[in-house]
Amino acid sequence: MYFRFWTSFRGANPTFIDRLCSEDQGQHASWIIVIEDNDDVPGVGGGSFWRSAENADTAEVSFTVADEFQGQGAGTILLAAIWEHAYAIGIRKFVGYVLDENHVMLTWWSSLGAAHVRQPHGGWELTLTLDESLLPETSAANSLRHWLAFIRAA
Ligand SMILES: CC(C)(COP(=O)(O)OP(=O)(O)OC[C@H]1O[C@@H](n2cnc3c(N)ncnc32)[C@H](O)[C@@H]1OP(=O)(O)O)[C@@H](O)C(=O)NCCC(=O)NCCS
Repeated sequence: MYFRFWTSFRGANPTFIDRLCSEDQGQHASWIIVIEDNDDVPGVGGGSFWRSAENADTAEVSFTVADEFQGQGAGTILLAAIWEHAYAIGIRKFVGYVLDENHVMLTWWSSLGAAHVRQPHGGWELTLTLDESLLPETSAANSLRHWLAFIRAA
């Protein structure tokens, strides 16, 4: 939770949940992964994008995968889902803000060829261009290609 929200808390903030779930006319969307017919697992993870007010072709993204499901491909599926959704409404770049100690996110998006810009007060701004032809030949990029193709074929 700390890597996603940059703060520690015990309960979910209702205002933030409303914002996350609200329909926002092409400005924002959230995709979640749930396991059907399994009430023991409330959710596997979620990914969201918010279109930038200044640059209509850019959106800020965020992801959270439950600890017990990390490293099994859920983050990649969520990225493919929000990539396809965002691309369809004219978004061409995803930006993520990441703490220095978030090695998984930094490794993952480096493997996808994202550009890194150091932030003045620490952390990184990562920018991923939504152009499959720019993805490098890495395992993470190959998984993303696979899920993009899967979603397009669905
Ligand atoms: C970042 C996060 C969403 C990734 O989700 P995930 O389901 O673990 O991701 P995946 O299993 O699809 O793995 C994607 C890539 O991340 C990298 N990765 C995943 N787990 C890793 C680990 N433990 N160590 C190093 N790299 C790792 C790999 O490059 C992997 O691709 P590959 O295995 O094909 O090479 C998840 O770790 C998370 O919720 N972290 C906490 C919240 C957070 O940091 N959110 C991002 C802030 S915007």
